[in-house]
Amino acid sequence: MKINIIYESQFGNGKKVVEELTVILEENGQDVDLFPVAETKPNELPPADLYIFSSPTRKFMLPRNMGRFIKEFIPPSENTKYALMTTYMDPRTIALKKMEALMKKKEIKKAADDFKIKILGLKGPLEDGYSDGLNKFADELIK
Ligand SMILES: Cc1cc2nc3c(=O)[nH]c(=O)nc-3n(C[C@H](O)[C@H](O)[C@H](O)COP(=O)(O)O)c2cc1C
Repeated sequence: MKINIIYESQFGNGKKVVEELTVILEENGQDVDLFPVAETKPNELPPADLYIFSSPTRKFMLPRNMGRFIKEFIPPSENTKYALMTTYMDPRTIALKKMEALMKKKEIKKAADDFKIKILGLKGPLEDGYSDGLNKFADELIK
């Protein structure tokens, strides 16, 4: 399966997680590409079967560039799937809810439940023990 991961990561925590996810998926025979949102335009993405969007929570919500990217993203077919991830400090985050609301309009299916990773300070580190969750998320994505 061809998988595009589109991510934003100001301090590198989200980047670390999507890089780890890429390794897991590649070890399972998937063809994965990573795209930093700031350097990518939605219409420049190569077509893929699955799109994973990974964003930090900012001011409870999404950074503007991620919101705009998802809004403009056009799935290549109705069989395209998507999945959502966020890093956050405060459990009141509504970043995933915002991404979900934007994706709902595309009328494509979700490949796995949303994945949230807690970070312990503004700049990190990631809370220990997310590896099990990340492996389960990866399993769901490719099942
Ligand atoms: C301007 C700003 C606002 C933030 N607001 C929130 C917030 O409302 N809720 C929250 O849980 N985390 C908030 N954070 C923390 C980010 O979620 C955290 O920096 C991010 O997840 C780290 O991921 P990254 O290293 O990939 O950038 C904020 C961070 C910044 C810089």
